[in-house]
Amino acid sequence: MRPFHVALIGLGTVGTGVAKLLVEHADRNARRAGRSIVLKHVIVRDAQRRRGVALVNGLLHSDVAHAIEDPEVDAIVEVMGGTDLARRHLLAALNAGKDVVTANKALLCVHGDEIFAAAKRNGRTVCFEAAVAGGVPVIAGVGQSLSGNQITGIEAILNGTSNYILTQMSATGSAFDDVVKEAQALGYAEADPTMDIDGTDAAQKLAILVRIAFGTKVQPADFVRQGIDTLEASDLAYAAELGYAVKLLARAKLTGGKLELHVQPTLVRRDRPLAQVDGARNMIAVDGDAVGTVWWSGPGAGQMATASAVVADVIDLAVGRAQRTFPQLDLWGDGAPVPLLPIENIRRRSYFRFNVEDRPHVVADIADVLGRHEISLASIIQHEAPDLGEADDPPQEMHPIVPLVVMTHRATEGQVRAAEAEFARLSALRGPWVRMPVAD
Ligand code: NAP
Ligand code: HSE
Repeated sequence: MRPFHVALIGLGTVGTGVAKLLVEHADRNARRAGRSIVLKHVIVRDAQRRRGVALVNGLLHSDVAHAIEDPEVDAIVEVMGGTDLARRHLLAALNAGKDVVTANKALLCVHGDEIFAAAKRNGRTVCFEAAVAGGVPVIAGVGQSLSGNQITGIEAILNGTSNYILTQMSATGSAFDDVVKEAQALGYAEADPTMDIDGTDAAQKLAILVRIAFGTKVQPADFVRQGIDTLEASDLAYAAELGYAVKLLARAKLTGGKLELHVQPTLVRRDRPLAQVDGARNMIAVDGDAVGTVWWSGPGAGQMATASAVVADVIDLAVGRAQRTFPQLDLWGDGAPVPLLPIENIRRRSYFRFNVEDRPHVVADIADVLGRHEISLASIIQHEAPDLGEADDPPQEMHPIVPLVVMTHRATEGQVRAAEAEFARLSALRGPWVRMPVAD
């Protein structure tokens, strides 16, 4: 059988891992694919720069069109990132009769419809295992292995960078900005790490999973998205004191024919598997009506973990299996839209951390606002503030500002937002407060 030829666009964190696996494990790949897999082109912006993988002369260049038009090339692997140029390259590749592999969730989220339509029109295949949860094979898992089920819920940690930051801040007390830099150096973060820490990356991945699991199209703008950038180390410590870990949790739940969707830092009870996922690992818990709950967990970001998923897609194409299953499974189907549960109707418990003046009636004022919105208090933490000595009635500027943590019982988002509108008018509250949902 003739060798399977690949052109790789991008030789950064992921591309370098893919090139290493293809070049350094050519024999293993050939055994798995039943034919050799040959790396024919590697495209970068700067072909003069030294790279972390040894490539034969002439392989590395910057001429994308030359690679796409090469009649010998069977598949284009896009690991360059971004949405505009990547879109153009993938459409050009599909129109030129190549199959494509991509790790680019931002691209699929924004231009997935156009890319999948182009693949269908040209009778080609799009593989994207690495686009969600890095090395964890969740696209194959949800899209194929659970196809005998109606999926009813997904609860997941989908961003390795955020999970790494939360883990390091909890374990070592390191400062947020320092840990972001570590995550970048380790190759977990996006080119712009804002996407990781503000929840965008996890929301894009949730939108892709929802498309596959529920056959419905959603965009991150359609649901609540909150990142970890509003949290402080003290929130992680209070959560631990209450028996929880804080995780950037993505959730999709089908209830009464409506889909509840959100990505938010969430308090997860310490004894739950999701709470025990540390570092850049991801976890995806999927509920199927036949199977029950299935968990997948593993490295969700990083060079070799992500390359593992990309190369599995390349081998699948070289075998010819992906080309058989892709058109039949219709992974990117456009089924009847599942209506979203209105945000105001989402019902859960809440954690609040306020900064308050340490003076009489403050807790009563907060409890009064919550009570008038039918929100019941579950617990309160206020650690002792510095002693003011003999001053019985100190002037306002002398009242220390202290954190006050409040856990509530279940209430709807609508009730909680109405209470928050009143908190904004309480003079004893200083600065913005932090609110997180609780996943029991
Ligand atoms: P990266 O380290 O920034 O690498 C990007 C690569 O693309 C570089 O080699 C760069 O060339 C090349 N490139 C960028 N623009 C180009 C252009 N206009 N023409 C030619 N080459 C261009 O990015 P990465 O972390 O590997 O991520 C790549 C993709 O994988 C992204 O879509 C990301 O979301 C996704 N992903 C990443 C991870 C992860 O853990 N990092 C995990 C899963 C998915 P130069 O080297 O010359 O600059
Ligand atoms: N930046 C992403 C993350 C890479 O941290 O999860 C994997 O998609």
